[in-house]
Amino acid sequence: MKATAVARANIALAKYWGKSDDALNLPAVPSVSLTLDPLVTETTVELDEGLDDDVFELDGQPAKDGETKRVRALLDEVRALAGVTTRARVTSRNRFPTAAGLASSASGFAALAGAASAAVGLDDSAAVLSARARRASASAARSIFGGVVELPAGVPGDDALAARPIAAADHWDLRVVVAITASGRKSIGSRDAMGESRRSSPYYGAWVEHAATSTRAICDALLARDFAALAPLVEQSFLAMHAVGMAGIPSVLYWQPGSVAAIRTIQGLRADGLDVCATMDAGPHVKAVCTAAAAPSVREALAATDGVLDTLEARIGPGLEVTRG
Ligand code: PMV
Repeated sequence: MKATAVARANIALAKYWGKSDDALNLPAVPSVSLTLDPLVTETTVELDEGLDDDVFELDGQPAKDGETKRVRALLDEVRALAGVTTRARVTSRNRFPTAAGLASSASGFAALAGAASAAVGLDDSAAVLSARARRASASAARSIFGGVVELPAGVPGDDALAARPIAAADHWDLRVVVAITASGRKSIGSRDAMGESRRSSPYYGAWVEHAATSTRAICDALLARDFAALAPLVEQSFLAMHAVGMAGIPSVLYWQPGSVAAIRTIQGLRADGLDVCATMDAGPHVKAVCTAAAAPSVREALAATDGVLDTLEARIGPGLEVTRG
C-alpha cells in the first residue's frame, strides 16, 4: 500500500493552450513535447489507516489547500476504482523551482498518477495513467512518456484522451537551456489564464484553428531531425500562445525584461548560424531548444544576458518510473 514514482517535466514545442471541455480538462488543441531530464519530481503515496484525511507535503512543507484539493481529487479517483477508502500520505519533491513555468504540475501530476495508482493496487497501462494525469493537468499526460510525446486535441466528452510517444529519447540529442528570468511564483496559473483567453481574447479562435497544421509541421520537423524547419515553427507556437493571452481582458502578460532579452540573444545566435530556438510556457522563463553541439555557446550567451538570473540545462529523458513498496 505504498509506492514511489519519478516523473520528469516536459517542454512543449507545439503548445497546449485552451480547453475543449473544462469538466474533463480536455485540450482544445494538439501539443507536442520533449520529456526533460533531470527536471524530476519524486512522489511517494502511502495509504495509512491512522489518517482521518489525506496529507500532502510538497518540498518538505505542508501543501496549500488548493494544491491538496487537486491531489485529493486524483486519490479519490483511484480509491474508487480499487474499492479502497483509506486516506493517504503523499510526499512530493521537485528537483527544480516549483510553479515558475518549469512545468512542475506536469511532472508532479504524472508522478502522482503513477504512485497513487500503484499504492492502491491498480496495474494500469501507461495510456490509462496518462488519461488520469491529464484530468489533473493536461500537460501531465505527456510526462507519463519519455522522448517526443504528442497529446491530441480532445473531443468534448472523450475522457479516455491520453498522450502517446512519437519518438524515443535517443531519437535526436536535443538540449534545452532554461534561462531563469524572475524569482518567486508566477502571476496567474495556466488554468485561469487559459479560461481568460477563451472568454476574452479576439485571437483565441484563430489560435485553435491554426493549431492542427502547426503541430503537424512541428512533428514532421522533429521526426526528420530538421532544425531549420523546426526553429521558426516552435517560435511561432509560443509567440501565438502568448499573443492570445496578452490580448485578453484582463491581459495575461508573463514576460519580464529578461524574457525579451533572452529571446533576442537566442534569435541572434540563430542568425549567426547556431541551431537554437526559443520557447516559453505560462511564466517568465525562456527555454532555448538547441542541438547538443550548440548547447555550450547557448548557455554561455544566456548566462551573460541582462535579466537572466540563472541557467540550467536539460536533455531528453525517459517516462514514468514506478516502484512499489
Ligand atoms: O500546466 P497545465 O497542464 O495547465 O498547462 C500548461 C500549458 C503550457 O505549459 C503553457 C503549454 C504546454 O503545452 O505545456
